Amino acid sequence: MDRHYNRGHFSSEGHQNRFKQERSSLKRGREHDRGNEINARRARPNECVSSLQTMSVLRQLYDRDFPVYKQPVEIGYFSLDSKRKFWNDARQLRYYVEPEKCPNFNLRDGYRDRFVKRDDSIKEKLDHILRWILANRHKVQSKNVTCPVGVDFVTWRGHLTKLLTTPYETQEGWLLAVSKLAGTLYISEVETEYACRNRDNRTERHEEMMYWGYKFEQYTCADEAQGCPDSGGVVNTNEAFCTVVQTRLAEHKLLFSGEVDCREADLQAPQAPACYIELKTSAEIHTPKQRSNFHRYKLLKWWAQSFLPGVPKIVAGFRDNDGQVVDVETFKTSQISQLIKTEYNCWKPTVCMNFCSDFLSFVRETVREDDPRTVYLFSWDPHKDVTFTIHRDSEYSFLPDWFVKEMTRPLCETPAPPRTCN
Ligand code: A3P
Ligand code: MG
Repeated sequence: MDRHYNRGHFSSEGHQNRFKQERSSLKRGREHDRGNEINARRARPNECVSSLQTMSVLRQLYDRDFPVYKQPVEIGYFSLDSKRKFWNDARQLRYYVEPEKCPNFNLRDGYRDRFVKRDDSIKEKLDHILRWILANRHKVQSKNVTCPVGVDFVTWRGHLTKLLTTPYETQEGWLLAVSKLAGTLYISEVETEYACRNRDNRTERHEEMMYWGYKFEQYTCADEAQGCPDSGGVVNTNEAFCTVVQTRLAEHKLLFSGEVDCREADLQAPQAPACYIELKTSAEIHTPKQRSNFHRYKLLKWWAQSFLPGVPKIVAGFRDNDGQVVDVETFKTSQISQLIKTEYNCWKPTVCMNFCSDFLSFVRETVREDDPRTVYLFSWDPHKDVTFTIHRDSEYSFLPDWFVKEMTRPLCETPAPPRTCN
């Protein structure tokens, strides 16, 4: 994307105000240097006068035609085992077993004695995706030597989900670290102070309720296509099966990975990702207000999460306050936007996708240094604009040496792809 395209695109659609130049704060010498950190609002040597400093999140700026979003294609997958070890295969993929309409599953069962919880203080950053890229270089390698991974962005699906829902988010902000390596931009989340505090101060009830979603998965998934769920087994949240998909949003080529709960048990079902199913739990709905909240807040997150990787079906277990599943409903991802249309002033998929696309343009405009040790930290808090700071050799660097070394090796030195395929 070049500047000319950018200008024409933005001005012709009248959205110049999405990216703002903070003229007053660009006055030289007002902010002091903070070691290696450079604040976005301070003019840097060689900085282009018209560089874009902040980005607005106002919904009305993104309410235009739906952007091009190519059907996501699965280019691979990987598994994480009970010890969180990476495997370049589908050993953790599970198969959906349809429950009864009112199954009375007890989601509290096993919380005390059959639960191994992943240590969520360990920040894995993009490491598993990077491992997958190295193990599958032949699948992602482009002929363009200046950009050996043939995409503009590499990230987790969950980070993109946060971007999609940003125009409607009023509670939680985010921090996204971005580094450019060999022409590709890598986006990795940094935990905010607010999220860290919430993680440390969860109530016992909240801790238990976080288990309920995984327990529902255990009741509805089998390890083999013809198998039965084992509700007496251990729930271990280290285990995961992740799809790796490639797609394009407007002019941005994306490669991202996301955890997949299960697939259709019928092996004749369409190819991945069309055979994948997302499992969810939610409080049962009794009142119109509860239904409206479900549409406004839950379905937005569910839609964004499944739409991105092209997962067509969401199976929801509605549970009472004691963790008993009293109703199971299936939602087609493609029909969610129709379902919510009756809500007054509700969220719009086009706003979500256009915001995400424009944020990625903003990142491309901003991140100029192709250096894995430089991190551009994009920051957003509810009711504010997106801003950024630049950090060199800081705690935010996230591309590991083992990855950088391999990716910067000349192509002729690249080892031949492994013969075995999964
Ligand atoms: P539910 O979404 O059914 O509550 P996912 O649905 O994304 O596959 O996540 C599986 C489960 O992980 C969730 O099931 C929930 O139990 C837990 N979980 C995921 N993200 C969470 C979050 N941000 N806060 C609390 N629990 C979370
Ligand atoms: Mg799920």
